[in-house]
Parts: sequence; structure tokens; C-alpha cells
Amino acid sequence: MNLPDLRVDGRRLLARIDALARIGAIDGGGSCRLALTDDDGRGRDQVVAWMREQGLVVSVDAIGNLFGVRGGTDDLPPVMTGSHIDTVRTGGRYDGILGVLAGLEVMQVLDDAGVRTRRPLVVGVFTNEEGARFAPDMLGSLVYVGGMPLAQALDARAIDGPRLGDELQRIGYAGAAPVGALRPAAFVELHIEQGPVLDLDGVTIGAVEDLQGISWQELTITGQSNHAGTTPMRMRHDAGYAACAVATFVRRMAREMGAGQVATVGNIQLHPNLINVIAARATLTVDLRNTDETLLKRAEAWLAEFLATLARDEGVEIGSRVLARFEPVVFDAAVVRRIETVAGRLDLRHRRMTSGAGHDAQMLARICPAAMIFVPSVKGISHNPAEHTQPDDLCAGANVLLQTLVELANDKEV
Ligand code: GLV
Ligand code: MN
Ligand code: MN
Repeated sequence: MNLPDLRVDGRRLLARIDALARIGAIDGGGSCRLALTDDDGRGRDQVVAWMREQGLVVSVDAIGNLFGVRGGTDDLPPVMTGSHIDTVRTGGRYDGILGVLAGLEVMQVLDDAGVRTRRPLVVGVFTNEEGARFAPDMLGSLVYVGGMPLAQALDARAIDGPRLGDELQRIGYAGAAPVGALRPAAFVELHIEQGPVLDLDGVTIGAVEDLQGISWQELTITGQSNHAGTTPMRMRHDAGYAACAVATFVRRMAREMGAGQVATVGNIQLHPNLINVIAARATLTVDLRNTDETLLKRAEAWLAEFLATLARDEGVEIGSRVLARFEPVVFDAAVVRRIETVAGRLDLRHRRMTSGAGHDAQMLARICPAAMIFVPSVKGISHNPAEHTQPDDLCAGANVLLQTLVELANDKEV
């Protein structure tokens, strides 16, 4: 069979997506596999079993990144694809998972057709992409590209307490392979868009040319608990009120800034968290993102000014801790063009676009030419069990991945 005629087996891909979704399944069709929990471990076991069934050479590195390697004919650096299988607490069944399982499907198609590429092909499964249990997000791929020392990453603390290195040991994924040993010639990640652009435009394939900067911080506000009935309003140092004021401020700021600025307070914890006690302490997270680094810095500065005023006006102390800070990323123009060309050849409507979400590809872009393929998320819903992508779109994305990887893996000049 001619290489350009190769296509993925949609039923096989969907069956695997279904099987993985059953591990850590939650109501509504999604999954909860927070990084390095037992369910994440069981999900990894399943992926490793599939890799072995396919005859891939499996390795796990010291930060728990998992790789399945399919040999090539030439002694050249590999082409890598992949993503993550950890989820947020209320995760869907496609975020990250599609990129990993489509990568395995590509290799299966090549096996079935008896095709060997010049370069080896690798599917990577990166640790703690979500950042929902350990900060920062994209931690496994960040360490992989040398952006964070291994020891520091292993010392990261989960939101529920344990140390990352201990959790890796516990679930059996503290691997022996040195981190970053496989140096890819190129990296291509297939992912659901997780936003509304492709769905609204009726376009099947996004060729992702850039990705917005991410600023995460945790604020701790210390006030004073007191009686809710007896304390006059002017005498309060209410950490709960201050936390809500921050949430209101960042939303108003983002709307006023426009220009793609987004802002989210996704987690607020109050202490003692009781109906008749003014909160003594609040911890909350702030997620700011923008494709323009200057604007993102401006948003951070305005927030800092607001926090100083709030602390003074309310008589509270506000401390902040950076959880993640990544500048916007521009993907490799040649890989983006290649994705567009392949999509065009497959007669798929396509457009260039920006990624609103963070992805492992943004880290791999530090060490090799990288880009991403997006497929539509119905109604732009993600980080929600209702996350959905039409089967035809999943297959279309996987076919674009297949052809792009084959081209790259047969190209000596990547
Ligand atoms: C990862 O899902 C992110 O928060 O962008
Ligand atoms: Mn993802
Ligand atoms: Mn996600």
C-alpha cells in the first residue's frame, strides 16, 4: 500500500479510548486519574500493556515519563509524538489520552502495513501534565527538556500532601532511564482543542502555531476569625471577603483588558470555613493567561497592585507563591506547514490557530521542532466529563498525525 493511502482504524482507536476511560471512570462519561494516584498507575499499566503487545521497546525515566519506541531502518534521532493520560478531577476522556492512543494507533497501522520508517518513532506519556495535583503543569516534559532539576520536581508536594518522588515509587513508575535520554528530531502532538474555535468555524483540523503564556500563583490571605454576629463590619479582617474580592478583580481586569486575556480563580479554601465565623485564612489560586508576554506581565503587575491595596484596606496579610510561569510559545513554522499540507491532502478543512491550554509540546519545542494538531471539542467543553469530540474528527486528527509522522520519520533533513 502507498504510504499516503494509509489510514488509522477508527474502531480500534475508539475501543482503546473507551477502555482507558473506564479506569477511574466518573459519572458523565469522563475519568478522574489525578497524577500518580492509584488510578493513574492503573492507566499507565494499561498503556504499557498495549505498548508491549505492539512490540514496542518500553522505558520509564526517573520522573515517570513513559516511552514506547518503534525502531527505524536508519541510525537517526527519532520522531516523537504523545501527550499525557493524567486528568483533572473532573476530566473528560480525550484530553491528553487522544494524543497517546492515536500515537499507538499510528504504530499499529504501520505494523499492519509492514512499513518501517527511516527514523524510529516514539510515543511519550508525560508525567503530571495537568498540574491539578502537583505544580507546575507539564512537569514531566519540563524536566525532560531540562527546564527543571529532577530533584526539585521529585520534591514537589501534592495538593493532598505526598511528595511526588514518593508517589512515583508507590505506583511503580520511578523508572531507571535517565531523563531526556531520547533526543527527538521532531515532536508532534495531537490533542482536542478544548475550546470553541474549530467547532464554531466548522473546521476539522487546527494547525497550532502558538500557545499562550501561563501564570499560576497561590495566594494566602491571613485575616482574623471573629464572631459573625457581633463584629461590626468596620472592625473585620475577613479573609473570605478578600478572597472573593480577588476573584472579582481578576475577572473584571481580564474583561477590561480584552486582547485574549483570561483569568480564573479555580480554588478557594477558607479556614475555619464555618457559617458563623469570619474566615481567618483563605488560600486561593489565580490562573492568568495571554499570548502576549507584555500583556501577561501587565496583568500580573495590576494584580499585585490590587493585592497591596486590598491588604491595606482590609487589614489582612497577603502572601503569594508562584506555582507555574511559562512564556508564550511559537511552534516550528515548517512542522505547522507540514500539518496544513497533510490536512489539505486529506481533504480536511483546516486553519491555523493558537492553543489556549498548556501542552507537553510547548516543552518539547525547547529542544526540537514541534507543533500540534487540534481537533474540535463539541461546544468547546473540556476539563469536564461532558468533553466530547465526534468520532470522525478523532479519526481525522489521527490520520493527519499518521501522515505527518510518517513524512517526518522518512525525512533525513528534519
Ligand atoms: C492544562 O490542561 C492546562 O491547564 O492548560
Ligand atoms: Mn491535555
Ligand atoms: Mn487538561
